[in-house]
Amino acid sequence: MVDFRSLFVFLLSITFVVGDCPCPDESLCRPLQTGSRHEKVAFMVSKDNWRAYDYNQITTLVICTDSFDPQLVCLAHSRQVRLAWLANYDVKQLGNVTARSEWVRAQVNKVKSTYTDGINFDMEDDIPDGSIMADQYTQLVQELTNLIHIEISGSMVSVDVAWSAPCIDGRCYDYQGLARVSDFLFVMAYDLRSQIYDLNDCIASANSPIARVAAGLTNYTQVFEIASSKLVLGVPWYCYDYTCLSLDVNQTCQIQHVPFRGSPCSDAAGTQHDYQYCRQLLRVNATTTRMIDNRTGGVFFDYFNQGDGKTHQIWMDDPETLVIKYDLATDRRLLGIGMWHVDALDYSPNATKEARQDTIDMWNAMKRFHVTETETN
Ligand SMILES: *[C@@H]1O[C@H](CO)[C@@H](O)[C@H](O)[C@H]1NC(C)=O
Ligand SMILES: *[C@@H]1O[C@H](CO)[C@@H](O)[C@H](O)[C@H]1NC(C)=O
Ligand SMILES: *[C@@H]1O[C@H](CO)[C@@H](O)[C@H](O)[C@H]1NC(C)=O
Ligand SMILES: *[C@@H]1O[C@H](CO)[C@@H](O)[C@H](O)[C@H]1NC(C)=O
Ligand SMILES: *[C@@H]1O[C@H](CO)[C@@H](O)[C@H](O)[C@H]1NC(C)=O
Ligand SMILES: *[C@@H]1O[C@H](CO)[C@@H](O)[C@H](O)[C@H]1NC(C)=O
Repeated sequence: MVDFRSLFVFLLSITFVVGDCPCPDESLCRPLQTGSRHEKVAFMVSKDNWRAYDYNQITTLVICTDSFDPQLVCLAHSRQVRLAWLANYDVKQLGNVTARSEWVRAQVNKVKSTYTDGINFDMEDDIPDGSIMADQYTQLVQELTNLIHIEISGSMVSVDVAWSAPCIDGRCYDYQGLARVSDFLFVMAYDLRSQIYDLNDCIASANSPIARVAAGLTNYTQVFEIASSKLVLGVPWYCYDYTCLSLDVNQTCQIQHVPFRGSPCSDAAGTQHDYQYCRQLLRVNATTTRMIDNRTGGVFFDYFNQGDGKTHQIWMDDPETLVIKYDLATDRRLLGIGMWHVDALDYSPNATKEARQDTIDMWNAMKRFHVTETETN
């Protein structure tokens, strides 16, 4: 009997291989081949800025848009940068073996047909402690990794994980398993105020406090025994804007009680903005100077919002606080660093001199991550 399904898949794969390579140099359409190297992972959410990125500071560009300019393949591959698609899978179908294998097949075909190099899993749904879904998710990642590594040499699969294990934001995933079956984990070391249980602490504060970020990494490497060489430290290139219900002499900004996954207070009370937006607020609208909170290492300032007539407090990271995180990644011998997201900077040709300098400074700060000597020995 003819297996029509395999035949169909086979024909599809032929079509993809002979598809139109957008690059003058056809070798740029092959998946990137590199030896083992450190990672700098950038998440792309806009189709407009890719020509302006600093490709010396990127090794993997994760595409979070539904499509991209095919010329990006030529530029990225010529600069030894991998392209990975952000991927999500319906949690309700985690136990459906048929749906899983169809989805995995579709992802591999998508990577092939677009001359890209891999998949980045961004599942952020909650999975209850002890649920079989945690194993099924690991299984899904394994199925994809197995197939894509066979069919696309040089391809990579990464998984985005919370700032710490085991159950941050109700995400009780099998972190050890995910590390084992993927090429690396992208640790999202931000949104640390997503669950605040003490209502006395329902105040604006740092998005990515350095001591807790370090503790989260320690949890992954010590408690869960995940090799540091499997971890990429993801930092925020975005800021939080909180409306203050009240603001005292110590700059304590009380915020509205907005619950999240079982906690009565969360950073959902704030609004996320791009780095460049908050820098502009600091230059134009701030009513205080830029301050550093010595307890969390976060940058903050107040401004008067003309829209609602209220005082707001901004919390953010900037090159001064980011290099401390990049140094942490170096010190812990992590696989790399990365950011959410790369389009938070001002790349427009009409950008002000200050905004343009901010963009340069943010890219330059990434140079701080480096491979330590003992490691290259
Ligand atoms: C399992 O997935 C297949 C393929 O997507 C679908 O046709 C089927 O309805 C799913 N089964 C259930 C119980 O959802
Ligand atoms: C680290 O893991 C332990 C054991 O699971 C847990 O009790 C602790 O809260 C975790 N620490 C952090 C900072 O998440
Ligand atoms: C401000 O901080 C000082 C020193 O920590 C403390 O003594 C004072 O009570 C604080 N004021 C308010 C309004 O919280
Ligand atoms: C943090 O510490 C520095 C140096 O000790 C100090 O100048 C600064 O005022 C402190 N920041 C705040 C917000 O207290
Ligand atoms: C910041 O100041 C500018 C110039 O006064 C104003 O146009 C803008 O609306 C202000 N932004 C906010 C968010 O209040
Ligand atoms: C630059 O131009 C863009 C699009 O033309 C516009 O949206 C933006 O506001 C401009 N920025 C400045 C700083 O003038």
